[in-house]
Amino acid sequence: MVSSEAAPFAKTGGLADVLGALPPELNALGDECAVVLPRYGAIDVSKAEKVYERMRVYLGGGFYECDIFKIVHRGTPFFFVDQLGLYGRDGFYGDRYGEYGDNHVRYAALCAAALGIARYLFPTQIFHCHDWQAGLLPLFLRNFVTGDPAFYGAKTVFTIHNLGYQGLVSRSKLWDAGVEDRFYANGSVEFNGAASLLKAGLVYADALTTVSKRYAAEIQTPEYGFGMDGLLRARSGALEGILNGCDYDEWNPETDSYLASNYSVAKPAGKADCKLALLSEFGMEKRVTRPLIGVVSRLAHQKGFDLVGTVLDEMLGWRDSTMIVLGSGDAEVESMFNHYAAKYPDRLVFWRGYNNGLAHRIEAGSDLFLMPSRYEPCGLNQMYSLRYGTLPVVRATGGLDDTIDSETGFKFWRFESWDLAECLRYALSVYADQTRFRTMQLTAMGRDYSWAKSAQKYSDLYRQLLES
Ligand code: ADP
Ligand code: GLC
Repeated sequence: MVSSEAAPFAKTGGLADVLGALPPELNALGDECAVVLPRYGAIDVSKAEKVYERMRVYLGGGFYECDIFKIVHRGTPFFFVDQLGLYGRDGFYGDRYGEYGDNHVRYAALCAAALGIARYLFPTQIFHCHDWQAGLLPLFLRNFVTGDPAFYGAKTVFTIHNLGYQGLVSRSKLWDAGVEDRFYANGSVEFNGAASLLKAGLVYADALTTVSKRYAAEIQTPEYGFGMDGLLRARSGALEGILNGCDYDEWNPETDSYLASNYSVAKPAGKADCKLALLSEFGMEKRVTRPLIGVVSRLAHQKGFDLVGTVLDEMLGWRDSTMIVLGSGDAEVESMFNHYAAKYPDRLVFWRGYNNGLAHRIEAGSDLFLMPSRYEPCGLNQMYSLRYGTLPVVRATGGLDDTIDSETGFKFWRFESWDLAECLRYALSVYADQTRFRTMQLTAMGRDYSWAKSAQKYSDLYRQLLES
């Protein structure tokens, strides 16, 4: 597998959770799966094994020399491509000035290095590529190494975790990423006058997957297709939706070491302690009888929090709810939350930034968990919420629609603040009926979205490809 993130080494979102959990699950099934990642500056390789020195990775007119480090984690080899000039920086994708200008080169080099790792270190039958950062690998494999016996019969799977990120770069910069202009001219990477590294994956991979069934259908429509819907309709025979799993080793209220108290379906009492502890963290313990709505999210356009502003006066004001928001992202959404945190200092907390422990405590301590996404390929937090007995309030899109039903949470359909408000009102009315609310919580906690089933589907897909 080739990816730009994998937990616990490098994480900004759910992609990392998937790469941290799916490969070990595949290995447990008997497949042999390894992961290739950049060695970002923050990743400590001092205890890792250096398995290759100065691997030459050719791109465009020149080459990069990369050292390859290996760490075995959860029984899975993780290979780190170490190239100081490309990856030895503080951020993954950018810094406070914005996205790095050479991301197309950084991730093209990752793809080319993955082919080198397959050739010298880890003979590979299936290259499973994740998101635009790995989009060039299928193009390289089909066009540049066809004569190399190391790759005879090799197949590629490309998984779309988020169609909204397309790896766009101007045509004139393609050569730096090792892509000749002919691939622009023949339409393989051309996208509205620029080049898209995502498109290279969509065009050249043998199989395409995305992370829920509903999203697999949605991305074939103009509303959700980001301009790629025509291509995806043309490739619909090769496209499948496989729902992400939930890593219950990491997200389980019974064993979670971040919590004030552990709990489970059999012993649910600890959840109340978690709520009190979470409120106390922010000096709001007096509000323990009031409904607590949690948010843990990137505050990107995708996540739909711009919809929330218009309902906060009602929810926090005359409905007297409490809200704890963890995340960062769009400046307008951040200032909206700052505004309401100043207006309702005793009942809205906005913790700006990234904080894994707090994410766990919010999952456990909240009554409701809010995800009003514009689109959501899968979404993991709602699955964590289910296990923690925190009922999700979600927009019915993508994986949110596939994983939440009327017994376990609350859904609204249209992306309208009125619909969100209506849905929240209903959720709060159910909260007021504690017997009914508890029944829903226990049902939610009993839902099983473990990785085993989904990993088996990937494993079956790999086998079909090798037989075809
Ligand atoms: P996405 O990948 O689109 O961001 P997902 O729901 O698939 O959405 O996954 C998000 C993951 O990132 C979850 O594990 C969530 O807990 C974590 N996360 C998001 N924002 C934060 C944050 N501010 N602090 C800690 N964890 C976060
Ligand atoms: C993306 C999507 C999210 C999904 C995650 C893992 O970041 O936005 O919905 O859960 O990838 O597949």
